[in-house]
Amino acid sequence: MEQRTPVCKVTGFAISCGFCLLFLFILLLYSGKENYSPFKQAPYAMKANRLGVLEQNKLDQLQRNCKALFEGDRHAVMQAKKAMETPKKALTPDFYKTALSDCTAFKNKRKYILSASPEEKKFPLAFSILVYKDIEQVERLLRAVYRPHNFYCIHVDSKSPKDFYEAVVLLSECLENVFMAPRRVDVRWAEFSVLEPEILCMRELLKKKNWKYFLNLVGQEFPLKTNKELVKILQTYNNSNDIDGNIKSRNLDRTEYVWSGFYRTNVKKSPPRWKIKLAKGSVHIAATRGYVDYVINSEIGKYFLEWVKDTGTPDETFFATLNINPHLKVPGAFTGDIEKKPFLTRYKLWLYGEDAKYCGGKVVRAICVFGVTDLPKLLSRKELFANKFHLTFEPLAYDCMEELYFNRTANEDHFPIDVDYYSSLPFVKQHI
Ligand SMILES: *[C@@H]1O[C@H](CO)[C@@H](O)[C@H](O)[C@H]1NC(C)=O
Ligand SMILES: *[C@@H]1O[C@H](CO)[C@@H](O)[C@H](O)[C@H]1NC(C)=O
Repeated sequence: MEQRTPVCKVTGFAISCGFCLLFLFILLLYSGKENYSPFKQAPYAMKANRLGVLEQNKLDQLQRNCKALFEGDRHAVMQAKKAMETPKKALTPDFYKTALSDCTAFKNKRKYILSASPEEKKFPLAFSILVYKDIEQVERLLRAVYRPHNFYCIHVDSKSPKDFYEAVVLLSECLENVFMAPRRVDVRWAEFSVLEPEILCMRELLKKKNWKYFLNLVGQEFPLKTNKELVKILQTYNNSNDIDGNIKSRNLDRTEYVWSGFYRTNVKKSPPRWKIKLAKGSVHIAATRGYVDYVINSEIGKYFLEWVKDTGTPDETFFATLNINPHLKVPGAFTGDIEKKPFLTRYKLWLYGEDAKYCGGKVVRAICVFGVTDLPKLLSRKELFANKFHLTFEPLAYDCMEELYFNRTANEDHFPIDVDYYSSLPFVKQHI
């Protein structure tokens, strides 16, 4: 054996030192990333729906192929439909009551996302979620949108069963920054009680500091964008609101007469003060903190809330109207052409008669409940949330939306948001 020369030793040392530094560097990089990686455990995507007891569900494990369903693959659709012939049983309040007796285990087992990127943490979101049934679907919606630095106010209809309510309360107690609305309202379609829980939640949420945007959901919706994507889009909104509403489609009947709940009286109502132009839109909004503060604390906000109380379907008038009267100086309000304002907060297919063929699922009260053949269009939508899904109707549609959502969360940088699209929206360019 030849003796190594000193030169050799020196180079050898230099090389190993180099490796050593490189190793340290990689370690540093990795640990830095680890800090805000949403999933500290094994690749989530691989197990996207094998969570806790859901593992029992053979359907999820064997017969689904979400990727193919999102691509509209006909064979995959046939297989999925066949697999879904066996009805799926949803998890019960009792299951949740037991599972929630150990919060840490629950969050781990159900794979809650317990961290977020610095960018997301600097831009907390405030949610109100109105629910009345189907605990599993409520929990899976919350699991998707939940991040510990956001805020969530949940309202359970006062008519809901006791065990459902109790399970939601336990769920809220297990999750930081999730709380129940201060009181329960008997929510009745077309009445003030649809708007009331939103107002209750807004008031509570305003007590929490620093959040930037308010989003309101119901139990049967699902996000089309991850939290990081929502943050990116809402940052692009530059303090404007995305609230649906125009003047053209409003029903004069609703605001020209006094209503008693669901029924119109013959008593004429005088128009609102401050030259408020009335609009018709949706109760589901993406609004800045300033807008919410105006609704709850300003003189005009309080006055107008009282004013709409005895109108018909006030939830479709209230938020929409405040957003289209620039002279009221409502933060984030729209100043452009009202009849041309797009609405990106919600993707909802309203279908009447013939149009029903555009719904791949089923049409319930003129709204499409999405099924597996709707997945390709859901994949490409620019809206923030989709309405609606029924967990027991074509359950693979929901399962696949969830798989996509968690895949995207785990690999967020691979799905860039089309920032130019959002920044050129009329309400982003023209607002208070
Ligand atoms: C954001 O809005 C403000 C006024 O509200 C405006 O001055 C600014 O140019 C906007 N920023 C972008 C990037 O559009
Ligand atoms: C999610 O990720 C897994 C693993 O990479 C992949 O097999 C699956 O097809 C992905 N699902 C979707 C809907 O993209």
